[in-house]
Amino acid sequence: MTIRAVVRGVGHYLPARVVENSEFAVSLDTSDEWIRSRSGIERRHLAENGETTSSMALAAARAALADAGLQPDDLDAIILATSTADFTFPAAATMVQDGLGMTRGFAFDVQAVCAGFVFALANANGMIISGQARRVLVIGAETFSKLMDWTDRSTCVLFGDGAGALILEGDTGTGTSADRGILSTDLNSDGRLRDILHVDGGVSTGTIGHLRMQGPEVFRHAVEKLAKTAETALEKAGLGAADVDWIVPHQANLRIIKATAAKLGLGLDKVVLTVQDHGNTSAASIPLALSVGKARGQIKPGNLVVIEAIGGGLAWGSVVLRW
Ligand code: UT7
Repeated sequence: MTIRAVVRGVGHYLPARVVENSEFAVSLDTSDEWIRSRSGIERRHLAENGETTSSMALAAARAALADAGLQPDDLDAIILATSTADFTFPAAATMVQDGLGMTRGFAFDVQAVCAGFVFALANANGMIISGQARRVLVIGAETFSKLMDWTDRSTCVLFGDGAGALILEGDTGTGTSADRGILSTDLNSDGRLRDILHVDGGVSTGTIGHLRMQGPEVFRHAVEKLAKTAETALEKAGLGAADVDWIVPHQANLRIIKATAAKLGLGLDKVVLTVQDHGNTSAASIPLALSVGKARGQIKPGNLVVIEAIGGGLAWGSVVLRW
């Protein structure tokens, strides 16, 4: 008997404030045309009125619980992927636990920047298949607007805020790739590349700091590493690109998404795209895309979904799952 971590529900939350590309051209030497053509981004949501990573995560969690038809105390664990927790500690996940009124189980944060949701899913999968937990709420939530240098046109136009959540539940499978649930995971990092995408503040500086990125360098690593990790995860699952119904990539740049799909031999018709409306929401981008992709009627039960992401660290990885 094989235990599989199967998707039971999904949900998301986006702040009400939408900022169009054209708004940046008022204060910065940039244009809608540049942002759109270089990144594919057209607009993004930005947190306001006291919205925080934990408040958005809580809203996404409630939506996922409603989708699954579950109560907070039906959960055994909450894993929240974020690099922008409200406070240095406690973990934002414990704030979500309290907000939900969940009085059992455990909650913690995972920090692998834009790849955080992939790392959180792999952790949840490990806990479910080892019997440590049966139902795990996995959230990606970020307030990257708090990390922006709003005078730096090369970064501040690229990011947005939001949250997405997924509930995984242990179920029995046959051990074949026909099973529903997570079929394989592939995680990687290379700390030698930490300087090309980092925040120049934190506990050691006594400041929050700002995001700094060598965009073209990150771009180059992204295309190469994302295609490789997706191929590796598919191979581990005994599958190939031809079996894929949907790629749900980290939504950082349409050109990266297109190039990665092309390396896998797949067209954009196989990709769930939200980058145009959300921008790069770091660890929130994949669960947001999963929730939106399901709501649009793109992702359906039984579909083979490949999730892949890369971000600061560099850290990157992928998950193959049958919805
Ligand atoms: O989420 C984590 C992973 N992150 C990523 O995957 C992001 C990876 N990198 C990228 O997506 C792209 O590198 C960017 C979108 C960040 C930049 O695109 P690019 O085609 O690599 O542009 P570039 O950085 O090479 O800049 C080209 C030009 C430069 O001007 P010069 O030196 O050619 O005169 C920049 O100064 O564009 C200029 N530029 C801008 N111009 C107008 C940079 N930002 C802007 C801007 N508006 N906002």
